[in-house]
Amino acid sequence: MLRTYALSLPSNLIFGVGAVETVAEKVKEFGKSKVLVVTDKGIVGAGLLEKVLTPLEQAGIKAHIFDQIESNPRDHTVLKAFEFGKKKGCELIIGLGGGSPIDAAKAVGALMTNPGPLQDYLRGTPLKNPPLPLIAIPTTSGTGSEVTQFSVVTDTERSFKAGIGSPLLIPKVAIVDPSLMESMPPSLAAATGMDALTHAIEAFVSVNSQPFSDALALHAIRLIGAFLRPSVANGANQEARSQMAIASTLAGVAFSNAGVGLVHAMAHPLGGRFDVPHGVANAILLPSVMRFNLIARLEKFGQVAQALGEKVEKLSAVDAGKRAVEAISQLSADVGIPARLSEVNVKAEGLAQTAADAMNMKRAMGSNPRVVKQEEVEKLYREAL
Ligand SMILES: [Fe+2]
Repeated sequence: MLRTYALSLPSNLIFGVGAVETVAEKVKEFGKSKVLVVTDKGIVGAGLLEKVLTPLEQAGIKAHIFDQIESNPRDHTVLKAFEFGKKKGCELIIGLGGGSPIDAAKAVGALMTNPGPLQDYLRGTPLKNPPLPLIAIPTTSGTGSEVTQFSVVTDTERSFKAGIGSPLLIPKVAIVDPSLMESMPPSLAAATGMDALTHAIEAFVSVNSQPFSDALALHAIRLIGAFLRPSVANGANQEARSQMAIASTLAGVAFSNAGVGLVHAMAHPLGGRFDVPHGVANAILLPSVMRFNLIARLEKFGQVAQALGEKVEKLSAVDAGKRAVEAISQLSADVGIPARLSEVNVKAEGLAQTAADAMNMKRAMGSNPRVVKQEEVEKLYREAL
C-alpha cells in the first residue's frame, strides 16, 4: 500500500521580476499596519531595503527596521530583534535577505506569540501558537527559507547551530523577485546556488522522499545544472538568475517536506564553530557524502547524474551514480568554490567534537539514506579537510 504524503507550503507565493512591489498589498490583506522588517546591513547597503520600503510608504504602512542580523544568526541577535519589534508593537514581520534574516524573522515571529526562552525552542520544545504573520522576501537564490518550516539559529551557549522546525514557521507569503538577486556577487551566487543543489539532492535521496517533493527536487537539479554557471558568470544575466531563483524555491519546498541529510548535519557544526558560510560548507562536503551515500540510493543518484546532463544510459548503476559525484565536483570547481575545508579556516583539532555535534543534528541525520556512525562522520570531515 502507498504511504500517505503531505506537502506543506506558504499559502501564497508570488514570483517574478518586480514582484516586490506587491508587498504593501500583501501586508494589507492581513489587515495589519505595524510592520517589523528583519534584515541585515548588506541588504541596506545594496539598496534592497528601499525596494520594500517604498511601496510600504506609498501605502501609508509604518515599518520599523531591524538591520543587525549577522550571517549564521545568533540567539542574542534574535532576542534583540524580538525586543525591538515588541517595543514597537509590531503585528506582522517581513524577513528580507538571504537565509539568515529570514530564519531570524521566523524565530522573532514565533517568540512574539510563544512564551518562554528562545533556548527552549532551540533545544526541541515544540511551538504551540502560530507566529505573527511573516512575509519572506529572499535576496539570494539558495536557502529556500521563504518556503520552509525551518529556522536555523546559533545557540551561543553550546556554539551549536540549532534549528526550530515546525510547519507553523512556514512564511504565510513568499515574494520571490529575481531583480533583488542581481546584486549578488559571484561568490555568493555560487555558494547559495550550491546550497540549493544540496537541498534538492538531499531531499531527493532522503528516507522521507516522496513523489511530490521528488518532482520538485529533480527539476531544481536540472535548472541548477543548466543555470548556476551562467548565473555566477554574470549577475546581469536575468534569465540565469531567474531560473536559479525558481530552482532554489523548488528545492526549498522539496527539503522542507522531505528533509535534508548528512551534508547538512555536517555543515551546520562548521558554521557554528568555524563560521564557514553555509553554502560553501555544503558544497565542499557534498561529493564525499554522496560517495558515502551512493550504495543506499544507486538508482536515484543515477537520475541525479542524468538531471545534470550526464550521459548515463549505457553505464552500470554504480558508474551512473559516480557520474553524479563527478559532475558536482566539476560544477563546484567551475563556480569557484574551494575544494577543501582547510581552505575555509577549518582546523583538524577538535574534529571529533564537531563530528559529535553533527551526530546531534538529529532531524537531518534521521532522513539520511545511509545509517552513519560518528567515526565515519569524523573520517568524512578529515577526507574533506
Ligand atoms: Fe542549506
